[in-house]
Amino acid sequence: MKTIGVLTSGGDAPGMNAAVRAVVRTAVSLGMSVKGIRRGYNGLIEGDIIDLDLRSVSDIIHRGGTVLYTARSPKFKTEEGVSEAIENCKKYGIEGIVVIGGDGSFRGARDLSLRGIPCVGIPGTIDNDISSTDYTIGFDTAMNTAMEMVDKIRDTAQSHDRCSVVEVMGRRAGYIALQSGIAVGATAILVPEIETKIEDVITKIKETQKTGKQHFIIVVAEGVGGVEDIAKQIEEATGIESRATILGHVQRGGRPTVRDRVMATQMGYAAVELLKDGIGNKVICYKNGKITNLDIYEALNMKKEFDYEMYNVAHTTSI
Ligand code: ADP
Ligand code: F6P
Repeated sequence: MKTIGVLTSGGDAPGMNAAVRAVVRTAVSLGMSVKGIRRGYNGLIEGDIIDLDLRSVSDIIHRGGTVLYTARSPKFKTEEGVSEAIENCKKYGIEGIVVIGGDGSFRGARDLSLRGIPCVGIPGTIDNDISSTDYTIGFDTAMNTAMEMVDKIRDTAQSHDRCSVVEVMGRRAGYIALQSGIAVGATAILVPEIETKIEDVITKIKETQKTGKQHFIIVVAEGVGGVEDIAKQIEEATGIESRATILGHVQRGGRPTVRDRVMATQMGYAAVELLKDGIGNKVICYKNGKITNLDIYEALNMKKEFDYEMYNVAHTTSI
């Protein structure tokens, strides 16, 4: 391949820039040119496409967000949208594309691959909810942000002998909640994968209260939601003053951690290594400590097992 494109799609994640940088640097070192497609698949449909060289990706490895911008593109899900995207690939000489995003973005990458534009997906989402990989770019940074924020909330909860109920991101998945919940010593962690009765949370608070505990952190995944209501129920049942906080988009921004920068760099490199040989319809994965790849179709049909063992560890150590 002489020219490849790179785009970021779906929700942004810290470390996407490091992945873009790695794609550009690896491709250039292999003698290829790179086009930056802006605002996800919309950029491909509308021809919002720029040249990227070695220096266009200088000074971005440490920055959150994505310099290529991102978007959700309903039009790309239509026959007309894909056809226009293919036309622009031909017009700009784009022979293959690295797609950085989540499962939805990979479905788009599969459509393009089937239509003759080989694509390689890189998992980028803070939620770590992509089945084919143990790790997605942005997860570590988001968890660290959640942890720092809850540490601050804990200071005030402790001063007032209160219970703080904190919602962290994860529309469909509880991975951020689980690990950040362990890291902040939450009394209970509520995730969409495991049904939890509020009565059980209240019982646990009462039991730990008997052993002298006076302030409490409850971490709730966005997919469970209802933090205001949970705080109200806890206050009514225990008499402990309770407050609800939704952390929200603060978790999607900020400087990527070492893990996200390194993982993004390795994945960007691996994606271009495939495309250089004309291999597409693949996603890069991190499995058993190694960077590897899978067919997109196979990757999209995998199911991710929630880490029940880690959940049990959290439950046991939070008494
Ligand atoms: P993520 O990639 O983070 O899962 P989305 O699900 O919002 O985010 O998908 C991002 C974009 O990928 C969508 O806006 C759309 O352009 C494209 N996409 C999503 N699902 C499909 C699909 N089934 N077929 C083709 N393209 C899709
Ligand atoms: O990136 C994933 C995610 O953070 C989800 O946890 C969250 O529900 C969603 O994105 C929100 O995205 P947006 O506000 O961009 O629609």
